[in-house]
Amino acid sequence: MASNRVSLESIIFFINFFFFLLIVTTGPLLFCQAVTKTMVPENVTVSSAAYSAVLIFGDSILDTGNNNYIETLVKSNFHPYGEDFPGGLPTGRFSNGRLISDFIGENLGIKASLPPYLDPNLQVEDLVTGVCFASAGSGYDPETPMLTSSVPSIPNQLNLFRQYMAKLRTLVGEQKSKAIIENSLYVISAGNNDVGATYFLARRKSSDMDSYANFLVGQASTFIRQLHGLGARKIAHLSTIVTGCVPASRTVFGGIGRPCFEESNDLAIMFNEKLGYELERLRDDARFPNLSTTFLDVYTPLFDIIQRPENYGFVDVKDGCCGTGELEFAVLCNHLSSTCTNASNYIFWDSVHLTEKAYKILTSKIMKDINKLQNEIKC
Ligand SMILES: *[C@@H]1O[C@H](CO)[C@@H](O)[C@H](O)[C@H]1NC(C)=O
Ligand SMILES: *[C@@H]1O[C@H](CO)[C@@H](O)[C@H](O)[C@H]1NC(C)=O
Ligand SMILES: *[C@@H]1O[C@H](CO)[C@@H](O)[C@H](O)[C@H]1NC(C)=O
Repeated sequence: MASNRVSLESIIFFINFFFFLLIVTTGPLLFCQAVTKTMVPENVTVSSAAYSAVLIFGDSILDTGNNNYIETLVKSNFHPYGEDFPGGLPTGRFSNGRLISDFIGENLGIKASLPPYLDPNLQVEDLVTGVCFASAGSGYDPETPMLTSSVPSIPNQLNLFRQYMAKLRTLVGEQKSKAIIENSLYVISAGNNDVGATYFLARRKSSDMDSYANFLVGQASTFIRQLHGLGARKIAHLSTIVTGCVPASRTVFGGIGRPCFEESNDLAIMFNEKLGYELERLRDDARFPNLSTTFLDVYTPLFDIIQRPENYGFVDVKDGCCGTGELEFAVLCNHLSSTCTNASNYIFWDSVHLTEKAYKILTSKIMKDINKLQNEIKC
């Protein structure tokens, strides 16, 4: 696909531009905040779980803090991020508390928080029960991590996974590491930044939605085959969130009154549907022995939450809890930002990401499919 870069200067929304402005105007103070390292308490509970480990790939919906360790402005390891995390710690998770990654680990009885792979202090226990390779700002379109500043792209995450496998072999031996790789649950979330931003900023002129969705799903398919080639057997892929209804999309693309940006939702629905079919196709393909896949739909339940917030105890559906709630995220949501009095009333924590409460509800909607995957046997 031909790259068709738009002039970033002309797009007020996009993060590079905002980050640039911010860094220039508010200077090193924020930046220093942004690079502060944090310690995450990673309690490992002994499990009776069928899965050995949980291994996570993709974007900020699942990233538990890898961007803390790389040069990027897409960070969140500073207050008020993490204010409802155990100990009130900002960990690099883009929320007030834990994420879907953590809740899956907890629900499977493996551990209550999934450490980022790039944390240099990981212990053997952490590695054998699962880590997170996801990186906020990433996506299937190679243009996405370029637009969002350099973060591990999906192919780079696969390289990190290869490195992890080598470490595991050294630590626990060939046979045991093979067993861990084959008995783990793999969870991917990617596509959000592509259908939420990159398409509308850089691809629209050169590609219609249908072709772009096909392109993304092709990338997803390649990634899943590569994971299978390395030994993965149980692979779950999240749908996108309702990208057109995140506060930043409403602000930038929605127009007067900040309605949802329907075009982004349309593209998300298209991508999700094609992805669902592709996952079934891979699952049924005899060329991929023992591969089981499942599509985890978070779009539909999130859409319902946005339509009927009162059913879930939410009050605000259009704004993030951080700052004005209309545009702030990453370094724009920082220690100078005020926050809402109770994040539990909000679906969105910042202008792009959900609150812990919303993530917890979404996790409860996908656990059935994860459990089903665990018991699936491919003949
Ligand atoms: C987590 O580990 C710390 C240190 O070992 C311990 O003090 C704390 O009680 C543990 N928390 C849970 C929830 O197990
Ligand atoms: C598929 O699973 C079966 C049963 O666990 C195992 O014997 C076989 O070696 C596996 N095949 C591959 C290619 O992993
Ligand atoms: C926040 O709101 C939730 C639900 O609306 C409520 O259960 C909780 O007690 C509130 N917390 C505070 C600190 O007010």
